[in-house]
Amino acid sequence: MATTEVTPGKETARPGTFSSKAFAAQSATSKLASHTIARRTPQAEDVQIEILFCGVCHSDLHQARNEWSGVMPTVYPCVPGHEIVGRVTKVGSAVTKFKPGDLAAVGCMVDSDRTCPECKAGLEQFCPNFTLTYNFPDKHLGGVTYGGYSDSIVVDEHFVLRVPGNLDLAGAAPLLCAGITTYSPMRHWGAGKGKKVGVVGLGGLGHMAVKFAHALGAHTVVFTTSANKKDDALRLGADEVVLSRDANEMQKHAGSFDFILDAVAAEHDINAYISLLRRDGNLTMVGAPDKPLPVSVFGLLMGRRSFSGSLIGGIAETQEMLDFCGKHNITSDVEVIPIQKVNEAYERLVKSDVKYRFSIDMASLKSS
Ligand SMILES: NC(=O)c1ccc[n+]([C@@H]2O[C@H](COP(=O)([O-])OP(=O)(O)OC[C@H]3O[C@@H](n4cnc5c(N)ncnc54)[C@H](OP(=O)(O)O)[C@@H]3O)[C@@H](O)[C@H]2O)c1
Ligand SMILES: [Zn+2]
Ligand SMILES: [Zn+2]
Repeated sequence: MATTEVTPGKETARPGTFSSKAFAAQSATSKLASHTIARRTPQAEDVQIEILFCGVCHSDLHQARNEWSGVMPTVYPCVPGHEIVGRVTKVGSAVTKFKPGDLAAVGCMVDSDRTCPECKAGLEQFCPNFTLTYNFPDKHLGGVTYGGYSDSIVVDEHFVLRVPGNLDLAGAAPLLCAGITTYSPMRHWGAGKGKKVGVVGLGGLGHMAVKFAHALGAHTVVFTTSANKKDDALRLGADEVVLSRDANEMQKHAGSFDFILDAVAAEHDINAYISLLRRDGNLTMVGAPDKPLPVSVFGLLMGRRSFSGSLIGGIAETQEMLDFCGKHNITSDVEVIPIQKVNEAYERLVKSDVKYRFSIDMASLKSS
């Protein structure tokens, strides 16, 4: 049984828990460093996973540094990481989908109430009672949940995904957030053959969006602030690349897009993109800058354009995305790093210096 007297992060093994190595931020300004956390011993429906790779999402940085304090303040110590791929080491007595030795993956959510209309619709990401993988109240141990910068995790099997066997594991890890966050709105807004689709920001999310838009058959245009990413954008599947700081280049595409996905992590002018939409075109934000973005309402009135947001994706759609990636052999372009380099990786993310996702080889945690 899980116990309530455990203080995760402070204690090693207590009844109902075992200790796990991790990397944590102790405050908004401290670097991530070695730390020990408690995980619950698997309950009947739980799967225990030895983590092999964990992607580094810009959301990890936002939260480690408490940049989203207005929406979800960070509780320290914070163990980020929600792009998790690993191998099953133990399963509870009621688990039916996994057995020890299987590959398994975990994304941004580890639980939800399973009863609300959103859960029943397979949209657990909109459940008012969901549990995010880290920095969210932990219903089992108290305190907050701890993410994938760790050597193990224990998750209810409903929130554990299957990884197609043909995919490179370091490159598959980022599919669990960057992949589903871009796949879901592409599917929702009908990106595909005969559609002109824009992707703003060629980072972790953006480069996956390009791969999906291309695989779905859309005419794909990348908007980047980094001239040195132009060749990569074409290699990743873009049909055209626009340097977004060049107003003339932008103007050539006015009123022409069916759909634009904006994956920028910082403040920027979204009205420049709204004006590129055709009638009934849609601009969806998946990027989550901490400050509000001003929207020109007239840009929306003209042409009945819409501006919306999207949050990761449900469990069934995440599995669909992984299977789609298996079929089309799609993985993230990764730079594999040891956990000791994660602070350096954060600094590079801030400078848009990422090609195109850092994936932490968790074997490195053994020597920390
Ligand atoms: N909605 C969701 O469910 C969800 C899920 C995951 C992440 N997110 C959020 O999505 C955002 C992107 O995450 P990520 O991991 O892909 O980040 P990332 O790898 O750091 O990529 C962000 C990209 O945005 C562009 N960019 C950065 N600063 C910019 C600026 N000032 N003006 C214009 N463009 C700029 C850069 O691309 P170029 O060099 O090409 O310009 C950069 O590579 C973050 O805010 C993250 O929290 C949301
Ligand atoms: Zn993420
Ligand atoms: Zn629910």
